[in-house]
Amino acid sequence: YWNPGNVIAEQVERIRAQVGDARVVCGLSGGVDSSVAAALVQRAVGDQLTCVFVDHGLLRSGEAQQVEQDFVASTGVRLKVVDAREQFLHALAGHTDPETKRKIIGREFIRVFEAAAREVVAEAGETGQDVRFLVQGTLYPDVVESGGGEGAANIKSHHNVGGLPDDLQFELVEPLRTLFKDEVRAVGLELGVPEAIVWRQPFPGPGLGIRIIGEVTAERLDVLRAADAIAREELTRAGLDRDIWQCPVVLLADVRSVGVQGDGRTYGHPVVLRPVSSEDAMTADWTRMPYDVLATISTRITNEVPEVNRVVLDVTSKPPGTIEWE
Ligand code: XMP
Repeated sequence: YWNPGNVIAEQVERIRAQVGDARVVCGLSGGVDSSVAAALVQRAVGDQLTCVFVDHGLLRSGEAQQVEQDFVASTGVRLKVVDAREQFLHALAGHTDPETKRKIIGREFIRVFEAAAREVVAEAGETGQDVRFLVQGTLYPDVVESGGGEGAANIKSHHNVGGLPDDLQFELVEPLRTLFKDEVRAVGLELGVPEAIVWRQPFPGPGLGIRIIGEVTAERLDVLRAADAIAREELTRAGLDRDIWQCPVVLLADVRSVGVQGDGRTYGHPVVLRPVSSEDAMTADWTRMPYDVLATISTRITNEVPEVNRVVLDVTSKPPGTIEWE
């Protein structure tokens, strides 16, 4: 029967056979999947591994700090933090199509990993060597939705599957590729990954970039980050973190609506709350959340984020909606 200990033993052996004594880089986001993938690879090949955290400017508030605190502190893994905010914003400028945005983000991630890999080699004084291997926390549902599963249609290109550039130089190490999220969580717990990480709600690699409907700009990111931080704070305060699978907050950046705040007319933007319940993200239902929590989130966002004058609730299941709006 399925058991996390067996998965770990099998994957450790596979990883060792695949990478030998080569150096490996791992994209670490601080989320469950990449953290568990990194912990598995660390178990297999120890300090041949360097993790790379990419600050692409599409993060929620506090995320960069959290990775260092929670993951590095508990595993002692070697971590490079790359500030790539300008690079991603520049690459995304002018783009509004969801698949285009996803592909751009997937490509820029790889460019950052390539640069980081060159640094790893240089720092180790191994001239003429390459880092051939890139670890990713790809799960089975990511593969299916990106059109990689048997007979599956391409629903959206997950940044680490369908969003990869054609000229990819790395060989991928993807120890979670056959697993569902609940299985990944079990493996993570068995490996001793901190519970704060194991039980984190999913957050997509492309981050807030696919939660701004329209062009991604620095100003819009600030607006969304502020609204999202309020929603997360109130959900946590209400004790709903474990009941809700995740709650994307989506900025309808190209939509404006009239409002009244204080004595005056406003012409601002709506944000959408998308609380969902799910087992594995393949299907989902909208969460029947307590009205008073919704009311508090709405009042706080419209009071505290001047650009937002309306908060709406998404009451669509998956299917027909997907969890993220793009
Ligand atoms: P959808 O929107 O397809 O999302 O219903 C299913 C789950 O996957 C997450 N998601 C992603 N995760 N890279 C990721 O790492 C991606 O490109 C990506 N797109 C969606 C989403 O948050 C949900 O948990």
